[in-house]
Amino acid sequence: MTIRSVEDIPIEGKRVFLRVDFNVPLAAGDVADDSRIRAALPTVLHCVERGARVVLASHLGRPKGKPAPEFSLEPVAARLAELLGQDVKLADEPAGDGARKLVADLREGQVAMLENLRFEPGEEKNDEHFARALASYADVYINDAFGAAHRAHASTVGMVPLVPEKGAGFLMRKELDFLSLLLGDVTRPYVAVLGGAKVSDKIEVLEALSERVNTLLIGGAMANTFLAAKGKGVGRSKVEDDKLGTARGFLKRAADKGVVVRLPVDVVTADSLDAEEGERASVDSIPDGEMALDIGADTAREFSADIAEARTVFWNGPMGVFERQPFAAGTLAIAQAVAGNRLATTVIGGGDSVSAASQAGVIDKISHVSTGGGASLEYIQGLTLPGVAALEG
Ligand code: 3PG
Repeated sequence: MTIRSVEDIPIEGKRVFLRVDFNVPLAAGDVADDSRIRAALPTVLHCVERGARVVLASHLGRPKGKPAPEFSLEPVAARLAELLGQDVKLADEPAGDGARKLVADLREGQVAMLENLRFEPGEEKNDEHFARALASYADVYINDAFGAAHRAHASTVGMVPLVPEKGAGFLMRKELDFLSLLLGDVTRPYVAVLGGAKVSDKIEVLEALSERVNTLLIGGAMANTFLAAKGKGVGRSKVEDDKLGTARGFLKRAADKGVVVRLPVDVVTADSLDAEEGERASVDSIPDGEMALDIGADTAREFSADIAEARTVFWNGPMGVFERQPFAAGTLAIAQAVAGNRLATTVIGGGDSVSAASQAGVIDKISHVSTGGGASLEYIQGLTLPGVAALEG
């Protein structure tokens, strides 16, 4: 099955429905990080330059199927207009009379944006009626929203067969090209660094990665559950008591497969998340009243040494509470180590890891920074993403 690229589809004068993932962080009503908007620009520009009538559509946040001003795409449309250097007209609804008129009035090379798709309950329900309304605005459907491709929604799946032509945008192509490298015959050693809060959120990806990688480096709060599963005292650290068996089972299976799994050997602890500073402690002597909030310096060195030896690296999830300066060093050290390995193919996915790499000033040194969080994790597990499958054929 093949997926056509936007380049191979005649779009001149056509109404192109371009599904993008402009689910960006906002602060005080403004776009706080425009990376996802910039990442989709090549496709938007291509459509504009070819004289298409461009209808952009995205979700923003989780407004639960009804309009909510704080989730309006208004600041996003304004930022896109600045980046494009041309007007972007925003409809006041995702579908309906206003949206239909805006689309009908579009001239060649003009850009309109529908209001947040999730203002309409039919989006997340993949409702046929809503899918038909969206499809009625389009002659060509292009999906550039890799970050939303793991969602089977009306704009990513339902409407696709209802539009005469379909294809992938440049960002979607680039994401699939890079991430599919991790599913094939990778150059070894292949090291994956996984962080984040919960074993329950990451166990499936850990299991899938343990079929492919040589070494797994585990940090973040979920490492506490693994340490507790190995009988370490972790003080007041967050532990998922009901996942201790899962963690033990995983460590055993990984060892049987010959996969090296490294857990922290030391951590940075404090008695609260608001503490002004942390203390280094070996994982054999975490004080009773303290919580582990970052990996320690020895762990960062060990993990970095594995990363330096690797020829393929995938990183998802912070090593600690990196948004607080006293607990940021471990995550920033991983960002530096991944960026410092210029011989490896390095891939980062997930908002927190990407923002850590950006804080460390090393984004340009990473082979591929995925715009997808959940989507990149599902893809590298080898799962079919509904939004990608819908483009095939
Ligand atoms: C993301 O930010 O990962 C995507 O935009 C998907 O958002 P969702 O998790 O709210 O579906």
